[in-house]
Amino acid sequence: MIRIQKGRPIIDQHDKNYLYAGKFGGNFVPETLKKPIDDLTKLFNKLRRDKKFIKERDYYFKDYVGTPTSFIKLYNLSHQLGGAQIYAKVVSEANGGAHKIYNAIVHALICKHAGKKYIIGDTGAGYAGKMLSMAAKKFGLKCKIFMGTKDMARQKPNCDAIRANGAEIIPVDSGSKTLVDAVSECMRYWVSNCDTTHMCVGSTVGPNIFVKICAWSTAQISRELIVQIKKEFGKIPKKLKLINCVGGGSSAIGFWNSFMDYNKSQVEFIGVEAGGPKNSKLHAAPLTNKSKIGILHGAAQYVVQDREGQISETESISAGLDYPGVSPLHCFLKDAKRARYISASDEDALAAYKLVASMEKIRPSLEPSHAFATAIKLAPKLSKDTIIVVNSCGDAKKDESILVKRLGKNHD
Ligand SMILES: Cc1ncc(COP(=O)(O)O)c(C=O)c1O
Repeated sequence: MIRIQKGRPIIDQHDKNYLYAGKFGGNFVPETLKKPIDDLTKLFNKLRRDKKFIKERDYYFKDYVGTPTSFIKLYNLSHQLGGAQIYAKVVSEANGGAHKIYNAIVHALICKHAGKKYIIGDTGAGYAGKMLSMAAKKFGLKCKIFMGTKDMARQKPNCDAIRANGAEIIPVDSGSKTLVDAVSECMRYWVSNCDTTHMCVGSTVGPNIFVKICAWSTAQISRELIVQIKKEFGKIPKKLKLINCVGGGSSAIGFWNSFMDYNKSQVEFIGVEAGGPKNSKLHAAPLTNKSKIGILHGAAQYVVQDREGQISETESISAGLDYPGVSPLHCFLKDAKRARYISASDEDALAAYKLVASMEKIRPSLEPSHAFATAIKLAPKLSKDTIIVVNSCGDAKKDESILVKRLGKNHD
């Protein structure tokens, strides 16, 4: 059965039906996708144990992505708030401006090894799409990105980048016109084109193999972080809190992966979901709003849904967190009580962005601003020997129009 503290990577801790804790995840897919998913599973399981493939991945992570990204102390913020010392892992320094590049590079490499020339993917905030278009360009693949029309309007800089990289954006105008619909449409396209086309899912969601590939890819973040923390403090501090925003959950899993074996009293994982606008019932926070388990995009997970089990409308200022489901890995970590999940409102995230951007040299996008909002709330209540690390996993350039609208022209 599934355990956390056994030194094995979390991505392998599922049963033979690919279910985490017997309840989450799985492969709830149409019959036509069974073979392509089996083939992809076999290929990935071979590749990830292949030294040549690992070398290839590491080469691109280092020379193209530009890893390791920095680990910095936020002196001004820590001083201003008092209490815990606040650090940031500046993952937004990665080529393209966010963590989505790790999963995109790995998928493009798998696509090449599978002998396919076409690659497709979903995007919400536009980063997953931008990164996949970058990777496709790098490896000479033809690329289509599925994106909700609401997200296209609010994340224009990333749409421009996708097109500049030569990829086609397929606008998705159904449902809520956001990430959930983009993923559905992308999967639908894959059903009819899986012989020639490789599909990338942009987060740790979807049928089991996509959760695995994405978690394996973003684990790079914590492989670097554990070395950087040991260098800074000489060891893993006695009170360490790793705070990350959670949409689908890929940045958080990557940020926590190498710390799974530590006891939670020493290394606490705090995941921050999108609480949506204050004074509204709408949110995108299945883990913190007592959502029930449902099936979404081929996997069982906590899903924001109505009494009949229909997906409910979600709302968040951050396109990247505006998703009604969440990775089965996070559902598992929540039930196992290894991670704690809370939510931050749109207004909390905006205030956190403003404070961090005015005091420090980083400008976190609206997604990690949710994590900063939590760090800002917690730090003053904690002792000076507590170390908080926030994953600053995206850059605010893409959010410029929202920031101007909500905070005014001189917003930092
Ligand atoms: C910068 C950034 N952070 C976080 C997220 C949320 O996704 P995940 O929870 O998979 O990291 C996104 C999604 O688009 C994003 O662009």
